[in-house]
Amino acid sequence: MALTGLENNDLKLIIFGGKGGVGKTSCAIATALALSEKFKTLLISTDPAHSVSDCLEQQIGFKVTKVAGTANLSAIEVVADEALAVFINEHEAELKKLLDTSTNLDNQDIEEMLSLSIPGIDEVMSFKTIIDFIEEGQFDKYVVDTAPTGHALRLISSPKLLDEWIKVAARMRWKYRYMITSFSGSYQPDTVDTFLLGLKKTVKRIESILRDQTRSEFIPVCIPEAMAIMETGRLLSDLGKSEIIPRQIIVNNVMASDGCDFCKRRTAGQLPYLKEISESFSNLNKVELPMFSEEIKGLDALDKLKAFLFSE
Ligand SMILES: Nc1ncnc2c1ncn2[C@@H]1O[C@H](COP(=O)(O)OP(=O)(O)O)[C@@H](O)[C@H]1O
Ligand SMILES: [Mg+2]
Repeated sequence: MALTGLENNDLKLIIFGGKGGVGKTSCAIATALALSEKFKTLLISTDPAHSVSDCLEQQIGFKVTKVAGTANLSAIEVVADEALAVFINEHEAELKKLLDTSTNLDNQDIEEMLSLSIPGIDEVMSFKTIIDFIEEGQFDKYVVDTAPTGHALRLISSPKLLDEWIKVAARMRWKYRYMITSFSGSYQPDTVDTFLLGLKKTVKRIESILRDQTRSEFIPVCIPEAMAIMETGRLLSDLGKSEIIPRQIIVNNVMASDGCDFCKRRTAGQLPYLKEISESFSNLNKVELPMFSEEIKGLDALDKLKAFLFSE
């Protein structure tokens, strides 16, 4: 079977996720390469390990970079810390005013607070970067390579987290607003309110695209091994809780060899796991990829993988 449906014009966002080392980066790049033959495609890596540069054998980094050797593929490796620094820099005035009007912190406390790292901020910033790209609309397809499972899930749940913060901030503001209203009789929304409203809209936009199966698709990558299968099961169940229902799954590193004894044993050893994958994930279209004799590095190797991903 091949990956299907990715060429639908409405489908913008394609996210690859799964356990470490199962082939997410290789599959994300190969898919982006295939799509870039017909669509202007942006490959986005949110993995702090940034193996996209290594796999493409080209330096990418935190700016949209044309992938050499392709006509229509660009790539970017999101650095969450930098994305956060840009965000704080852009909204410094509102953030400071929020803390200043709603807390008893003095200026120095506020400076320190803004420099603190907040749990989950990485994923929130990564997803905000992705959604900003989609809304700028410079590309037809956005293919996302994530870090291992936990990260993909945190990425998916990042709008919820952002929403929690907005609620806390809004509660803090409520007291401020109450005070102003009781002193002056009325309250005019200010820049902080506009800022919080803007963030709230970002949350809504992220949630609406993630839950819209015509606009986004999550593709889990698995290998025929016990731990990978268990992790895929957990991933699918957690995705389900966020109303994200994958349609297809990539089963990578499948051996089919009647060659040497070692290969025969590895091939036979995978059979029960392949059966388990078929049974456990029976509602998903399965795309099997062979285990290649060489690692997948450089455009030629990626082209080979692409051919397996997209040919029946
Ligand atoms: N089908 C395959 N055959 C051979 N090597 C593979 C295959 N798929 C992935 N690899 C190799 O396995 C390693 C991990 O793959 P990668 O795509 O980086 O996984 P992930 O992003 O899930 O950690 C890489 O060295 C890659 O070249
Ligand atoms: Mg990777």
